[in-house]
Amino acid sequence: MLTPHLNRLSDGELVYEGVRLADIARQFGTPTYVYSRATIVENFRAYQSAFAASKPLICYAVKANSTLSVLALLASEGAGFDIVSAGELQRVIAAGGDASKVIFSGVAKRSEEIALALSHNIHCFNVESEAELYRVNEIAIAAGKRAPIAFRINPDVDAKTHPYISTGLKSNKFGVAHLDAVRLYMLAASMRGIEVHGIECHIGSQITELSPYVDALRRLLSLVDDLSARGIHLHHIDVGGGRGITYQDETMFSMNDFAQAVEREIAGHHLDLLLEPGRSIVGDAGLLLTRVEFLKPGETKNFALVDAGMNDLIRPTLYDAYHPVTAVLARGGAPTIYDVVGPVCESGDWLARERALVLEQGDLLAVLCAGAYGMTMASNYNTRGRPCEVMVDRDEAHLIRERERFEDLIAHERIII
Ligand code: LLP
Repeated sequence: MLTPHLNRLSDGELVYEGVRLADIARQFGTPTYVYSRATIVENFRAYQSAFAASKPLICYAVKANSTLSVLALLASEGAGFDIVSAGELQRVIAAGGDASKVIFSGVAKRSEEIALALSHNIHCFNVESEAELYRVNEIAIAAGKRAPIAFRINPDVDAKTHPYISTGLKSNKFGVAHLDAVRLYMLAASMRGIEVHGIECHIGSQITELSPYVDALRRLLSLVDDLSARGIHLHHIDVGGGRGITYQDETMFSMNDFAQAVEREIAGHHLDLLLEPGRSIVGDAGLLLTRVEFLKPGETKNFALVDAGMNDLIRPTLYDAYHPVTAVLARGGAPTIYDVVGPVCESGDWLARERALVLEQGDLLAVLCAGAYGMTMASNYNTRGRPCEVMVDRDEAHLIRERERFEDLIAHERIII
């Protein structure tokens, strides 16, 4: 097994759950994102069973993969949702998600977005600044409501991950400073349109060590106690998302260790627990299927030129991220070292570097662990329609999003000369 439910048959072909990837390419073309339904469900249930004692509200971070079928599947499993825009809220609702299980994160929420979330009676706003607190209060008063809020605390801990996806340091734009938190909670408690509910942090993404979570939790819990001594009693604590996955050789702390550590820290505080996992639910549940257009031997490098590019999967370009790449049909023979690169007109358009592969022109490749921050970060650069998406469910493959056509790309344009 390469990633969950992805196996190689004895004839050398890759099969995802019960569907051959070559059949998916034949039926739907390439490039195509392919997801395993079983893996998404298993990843979600792994949280539920590890955290069975504390029964958290698991608010899946929609930004990781916001395709309606993915959201609908998670909603049917009982998930809540962590959103960062009105668009994500509307996606959750369109997918049949329950707005009362939605939490709203983000540093620059627009007034219309706050009003929309309030009208849907979401679970909580994660407030990230004093100015935002005033804005939420005003909008709630105008709507004749009280907005449930938690402050996102910047605990100033190092999540030890890529600087672009580290969010819990003082130098980041996220959250309110630990030192300022008591004053802000007192202010919030005095506001007519605000109901103080909880406390939140999210320290970063692709975190592989447990200790930053424990450090952050301790800093939050000391605030909880401090506030309680001042008569402000919080109902929930939200430890954010960030649990990493194994892309290459990362060793991950176990889900049980995670749950035990969190539950041990919050024991005795009478707080409901919230989690905001994204990548760890969908990351290893998806792959990008792409076809080799040409093989191009170079003076210093050999290139496999494929039909997926940085506009389809930007993580390698943006973060130097590693994604495993494997041929859909395993061929015999000596491997060649290839850089797997796309058709986009940028030197940064690469998906994988220095991979040993046995390839022929026209072969299919699977870029693994592409279920999170793949399609959601895709763009139309070079006027390329975004890939279609397919969900496999045992031996069936369902098209869950059509490939974008040229007409879709120009639909909102007006020609003025
Ligand atoms: N909660 C909040 C407030 C967040 O900002 C994020 C992710 C999550 C939860 C979910 O984090 P996760 O469990 O997925 O690590 N595009 C980057 C990742 C950016 C993460 C942004 N925030 C990447 O492709 O690695």
